[in-house]
Amino acid sequence: MKVLVIGAAGMIGRKLVEAMLEKGTLRGRKISDILAFDVVEASFENATDIKITTVSGEFSEPDQAAKLVADKPDVIFHLAAIVSGEAETDFDKGYRINLAAVQYLFDAIRQQNYMPRVVYASSIAVFGAPFDDPIRDDFHLTPLTSYGTQKAIGELLLADYTRKGIFDGIGLRFPTIVVRPGKPNLAASSFFSNIIREPLAGKEAILPVSKDVKHWMASPKSAAGFCIHAAEIDGEKVGPRRNLTLPGIAATVGEMIDALGRIAGQQVVDLIREEPDEAVTTIVGNWPREFDASRAISLGFTCESSFDEIVQAHIDDMNEGA
Ligand SMILES: NC(=O)c1ccc[n+]([C@@H]2O[C@H](COP(=O)([O-])OP(=O)(O)OC[C@H]3O[C@@H](n4cnc5c(N)ncnc54)[C@H](O)[C@@H]3O)[C@@H](O)[C@H]2O)c1
Repeated sequence: MKVLVIGAAGMIGRKLVEAMLEKGTLRGRKISDILAFDVVEASFENATDIKITTVSGEFSEPDQAAKLVADKPDVIFHLAAIVSGEAETDFDKGYRINLAAVQYLFDAIRQQNYMPRVVYASSIAVFGAPFDDPIRDDFHLTPLTSYGTQKAIGELLLADYTRKGIFDGIGLRFPTIVVRPGKPNLAASSFFSNIIREPLAGKEAILPVSKDVKHWMASPKSAAGFCIHAAEIDGEKVGPRRNLTLPGIAATVGEMIDALGRIAGQQVVDLIREEPDEAVTTIVGNWPREFDASRAISLGFTCESSFDEIVQAHIDDMNEGA
């Protein structure tokens, strides 16, 4: 079983490679090779007999995808993308990386003339307000950002290439993945991770929105689990609707902070400083709050059952040095 991970140095890509090394099999077969590709150099601790080859390069170069699928990987995870803020400010770059490169990949697979499982990272940004509450996964696609539009077009391509028998694709609309490791970044959503990660590391965190803001989240461990399940799931059971809204936890910021307090204590919670930011409040006010993921759940996708478990998953990652 040969596996290709595109975007392997990212948050979900790293977790996925680590999870596959631990699991050792995919679709009931032993994993022999993982080709880990990213524009950033990735490295993995590997005590298994699985061969990991790391390659760095620019995925939106038109001939890159053909090189990556030349060995006919059985499962291809496509996770590389630029995030919503960057796709909004750099229109050309967003369409080049988040859309043109997706089609290069799909066409490169077509040239190879075989039938891999392709797992494509989409996003809940394919949906736009006004929303139903909760939002079902057959809610119409009306993205209100370039990033969401690029992901939505990718979903349609994935479904059509699957329908034409070019490959066997599954698209995953991830919830917001928290707690993101590393440093705070400039994304409007970064405070969802910051208010948990920074206090747990003994640092102050700014809360720019009110505590009744509600969001849809799952842990990095669940994100890796979603990818693995999507690689293994029976395509017949999924049917023609190839893109799935994944399960998550709908929690308010207040509930997130309560969970942090229960697990780490009030002195940790006291490191969160409320500093309302009107711009962030407006952006976040237009985001979806809750989804009905019953289709993905009925297909066997699982995640945490409370925000406490998401906090605990991050503490476990910290203890493992992730
Ligand atoms: N993290 C989330 O909350 C979330 C939510 C919804 C969807 N997603 C999607 O899931 C995927 C993975 O998310 P993540 O959080 O791991 O993102 P990430 O930014 O941590 O990782 C993405 C990786 O892609 C690589 N990459 C970007 N452009 C590239 C290019 N042109 N060539 C080669 N490599 C390139 C980056 O270097 C990075 O390592 C993305 O497609 C993202 O849009 C993530």
